Amino acid sequence: MVAVAVLVSGTGSNLQAIIDAVATGRLTCDLRLVLSNRPGAGGLERAQTAGLPTRLIEHQGFPTREAFDGAVVEALGEAGTELVVLAGFDRLVTRVLIDAFPGRIMNIHPALLPAFKGLHAQRQAAEYGVKVAGATVHFVDEHTDHGPIIIQGAVPVLPDDDEERLRARILTVEHDIYPRAIQLFAEGRLEVRGRRVIIHGPRPPAPGPLVAW
Ligand code: GRF
Repeated sequence: MVAVAVLVSGTGSNLQAIIDAVATGRLTCDLRLVLSNRPGAGGLERAQTAGLPTRLIEHQGFPTREAFDGAVVEALGEAGTELVVLAGFDRLVTRVLIDAFPGRIMNIHPALLPAFKGLHAQRQAAEYGVKVAGATVHFVDEHTDHGPIIIQGAVPVLPDDDEERLRARILTVEHDIYPRAIQLFAEGRLEVRGRRVIIHGPRPPAPGPLVAW
């Protein structure tokens, strides 16, 4: 089974979706570690409740991003990590992490990339006036919210949406697509060719017209 470490900074609802997917058998992987840079992260509590090993490495204690990533890489190595899953991890990652896990780091972003990269993606989408929003799971490269796209899910933007309502609707699709992406990786079915992610083998029907991989 693929050994997975999940990196969180906040609430951890995506982590919870992953934990739940493992519990119900929808996702087959070994959750080895939940690591956070923030002591108050709800994700740490969720992990402890689920009986998963946790580590806290506070980024403030390090002089550079690279030094922090070095400590993270060490912790991930100790846990035998094969796949790194960023789930609301609020630090920009450096080459130190990327080079330690080439092609083996995933991130989820609450927008249909390449639209609305960076912070406050849901607010950007609401303010821009798009009619369809969504979420993207992608491999991580050295540019923010940029690497090859594994899966995307879309949701409508409704006339009276504000940032919060849109955030909640996008989160439901995040919780659906992140376990799917990890499962595809765990089954060894993802191949990166340039910017494109090829998915090998038969695929089950998508849960709706607005999820594609
Ligand atoms: C999600 O919207 C995710 O796409 C973004 O950060 C948020 C994390 O939420 N990267 P949670 O901590 O998983 O609830």
